[in-house]
Amino acid sequence: MDSIGKEQQNAEKLAAAIEAVKFIKDGDVVGLGTGSTATFAIQELAKRIKTGLKITAAASSIKTEELAIAAGIPILKLENLGSIDISIDGADEFTESLDLIKGGGGALFREKIIASLSKNAIIITDSSKKVKLLGAFKVPIEVVPLAYQYVFNKIETLGGAGKLRNKDNQKFITDNGNYIIDADFGLIDNPEKLSSQLNEIDGLLAHGLFIGLTAKVIMAKGNEILTFNSF
Ligand code: A5P
Repeated sequence: MDSIGKEQQNAEKLAAAIEAVKFIKDGDVVGLGTGSTATFAIQELAKRIKTGLKITAAASSIKTEELAIAAGIPILKLENLGSIDISIDGADEFTESLDLIKGGGGALFREKIIASLSKNAIIITDSSKKVKLLGAFKVPIEVVPLAYQYVFNKIETLGGAGKLRNKDNQKFITDNGNYIIDADFGLIDNPEKLSSQLNEIDGLLAHGLFIGLTAKVIMAKGNEILTFNSF
């Protein structure tokens, strides 16, 4: 991961967001991501709606839903949607093969549902998010509270070191009422295998490895826009 200054990082997030929002067309059902990069896309989308774009959207978190409603974006309930035309979200890490780690903001479960429903799942990032191998960023894992200790043990048997996420000295609670374990697996040689192993664990609602879910990553680097496609 390259380290870049905050100001440049924000300029890159905005540039990637502007580029991604160009892909949205009239009539689309749009999946809205969560986090600082996705927020730039929500603001850009709101601008396009003010100049006549007609879309509906679904949010990946309560925070995003509030932001979208305040910005005048019409919101549909995710539970009523069988498919989404296009989604725009951020990521904590991505590789050129379009594997991702997501969930730094704790919204990974709804983000994964949105990505899975999307015909065109676009990820937008600044240049600090591109890595050769995933894993410097710990893998967020959403766990149903009563299964916490069980899932924690299972993560250890897979070679991971888990840590319960806290916020303001309290357990971090997701929008779904669950805990997050941030799991360190070191650098991950085979993210697909680890994803399948994690999927086997009862009580684990979702993990932050997003494999094969992304159509395109749009990354800004300085004044350049780089696009990585899945095919
Ligand atoms: C939210 O749960 C995450 O998946 C975010 O998409 C991810 O953490 C990227 O966030 P930033 O855009 O704030 O870096």
